[in-house]
Amino acid sequence: MRIVVALHEMQRLARRWRRQGVRVAFVPTMGALHTGHLSLVQEARRRVKSSGRVVVSVFVNPTQFAPHEDLAAYPRNLARDRALCRTSGVDVLFVPEDTAMYPQAPVPPSSTCVVEEALTRSMEGSARPTHFRGVTTVLAKLFNLVLPDLAIFGAKDWQQAAVVRRMVRDLNFPLQIVVAPTVRESDGLAMSSRNQRLAPDERPQATVLWRSIQWARGRVQAARRAVPAAQLQKGVAKLVASEPAARLDYVAFFDPDTLEPTRAVHRTSHMALAVFVGKVRLIDNAPLGVDAP
Ligand code: PAJ
Repeated sequence: MRIVVALHEMQRLARRWRRQGVRVAFVPTMGALHTGHLSLVQEARRRVKSSGRVVVSVFVNPTQFAPHEDLAAYPRNLARDRALCRTSGVDVLFVPEDTAMYPQAPVPPSSTCVVEEALTRSMEGSARPTHFRGVTTVLAKLFNLVLPDLAIFGAKDWQQAAVVRRMVRDLNFPLQIVVAPTVRESDGLAMSSRNQRLAPDERPQATVLWRSIQWARGRVQAARRAVPAAQLQKGVAKLVASEPAARLDYVAFFDPDTLEPTRAVHRTSHMALAVFVGKVRLIDNAPLGVDAP
């Protein structure tokens, strides 16, 4: 496995692969890798076979964190990430430096940005108003550096995947976006780098996100007609409030493709929620009509 730090080296390598007709699958991450990330690496390899290249980036992107958020506390462990990538058959681990990615930082980190203006209005976009601008801008940069044929994202961040797919379509990036299923712990907690920040007494309470999804699923699947979103919102709020360390940020019911909120929730609807467990903000989502992860 090759480790690349310099932007020009990554781009030169990518251009050489493109000239040679080698297919490239890309998994962008912020590191502190877990089994969820590694499932994306496996999907990447499955798609490009042994003749293609799998590139993983580890970059804790400062521009997608607001000043009051957990950038400084975000878990980092490059030695472990490197070992995991090596044993997972990654070809290139790309670890660009902050100063190379944002040479004009701190103000402004970059004066050119990519902003998606429709799908970012709700949920994570309204809870974290500058978040998606950071995500789409860094991904546009990473796509220009890695020049992938496909990029793999997790369903865990459903809205992010939808926003990136729209950006790629709107701006004609020549690559395919693939979304892979959410990987969960055995008790249902969606794997996340942030889970390691949970205190021992908070960890069991964090399953309230998955329990909320299961509860709403039960309601929707048992009902003959659509269930009012307000009713489900109330039920979820109650469930979350029953955990002393948990505080509901939002819960949303929406169309899985357009992300349009729905007032009448039925089996084709999708659910997402964000919950603070202690200081750690966790998100989760799932379809309501099927018992998918
Ligand atoms: P990060 O949170 O590290 O996630 C990297 C990728 O892993 C994302 O596509 C995310 O959806 C996926 N992922 C995380 N947890 C998962 C799980 N439990 N199951 C399946 N996939 C999972 O998302 C980001 O980083 C950043 O916003 C990034 C796209 C890298 C831009 O900075």
